[in-house]
Amino acid sequence: MIVLGVETSCDETGIGLVKDGKVILANVVVSSLKIHSKYGGVIPEIASRLQLESIAGVYREAMKEAGIKAEDIDLIAVTKGPGLPGSLLVGVSFAKALALSLGKPILGVNHVHSHIYANILCHRNIKLPCAALVASGGHTSLFYVKDFSDIRLLGQTQDDACGEAFDKVAKIMGLGYPGGPLIEKLAENGNNHKVKFACSGTRGELDFSFSGIKTAVLYYLKDNPQKIKSRNADLAASFQESVINVLVKKSLLACKLKNVKQLLIGGGVAANSSLRKKFFLAARDSGIDCFFPTLGLCMDNAAMVSGVAYFLYKQGARDNLYLNTQLNN
Ligand code: KG4
Ligand code: ZN
Repeated sequence: MIVLGVETSCDETGIGLVKDGKVILANVVVSSLKIHSKYGGVIPEIASRLQLESIAGVYREAMKEAGIKAEDIDLIAVTKGPGLPGSLLVGVSFAKALALSLGKPILGVNHVHSHIYANILCHRNIKLPCAALVASGGHTSLFYVKDFSDIRLLGQTQDDACGEAFDKVAKIMGLGYPGGPLIEKLAENGNNHKVKFACSGTRGELDFSFSGIKTAVLYYLKDNPQKIKSRNADLAASFQESVINVLVKKSLLACKLKNVKQLLIGGGVAANSSLRKKFFLAARDSGIDCFFPTLGLCMDNAAMVSGVAYFLYKQGARDNLYLNTQLNN
């Protein structure tokens, strides 16, 4: 069964073609990130206009890469939310038009759940149920994944998302956008114990809070203005270390509380190599197997949309042309 996936939840336009929920035939993603970077964040109106302009070309390229004909597609899948309203609308409208013109079924999927599924595309030895962490620019959430039609939220950020904190701290430090990769690069030469930062406590033991640490970085720089000019590597490393530590600690606690031995991690922040290392080491010490998607599949892409839709469709999930965007979880 071949599923065509459409992903336009933020600034990317992605079309993926996946066979039987596992084999990626094509995964084309174009991003308007460069244009947003000069504004220091994604401008929704620019993102959706560019998605509108590029989506048909991305579709043609993906079909060419997969070497299939439109009749070979069995299901059209699309991210219905959460995400930017205008961007989601472009993807959902394109998917509906495609489904109508080709006479194929359509299914809307949850963006955050598709980030978890990215792991299934990359690994063969995952056995559900397991725990999952999604850390991206819009989300930081822990889940109990019974199966992909039964994903239960265990905890989530009470304020900023983890990727958002990387982006805001990078902005405060004058590094640019997106902040995650820039902080990671700068932190490579830094001492992560030099500045003591801590993520704020939360009422729920599996919830997160990242706005306090962002403010702590801001005040640290106000008190030490010379550090901005020197693009302080120790500051970047210390911030990164505190964020990673809390993600690792709470994810392993989730595994313990739910009595599962596997942990799936996804979302843009999962591309961070220090985070990957720390998770592997801490998980190994706790007897947990942790899984990450390949770097390209950590970021927003449409292969993960096709994958999770395949699973849900097989379980009987169906939508029709009244499918609408769903802005929140
Ligand atoms: O999953 P994603 O591509 O889009 C959303 O659904 O949000 O994640 C983008 C986020 C951005 O906040 C970006 O700064 C962060 O992921 N990110 C990273 C790294 N690469 C991307 N954060 C930390 N380290 C990285 N290497
Ligand atoms: Zn995402």
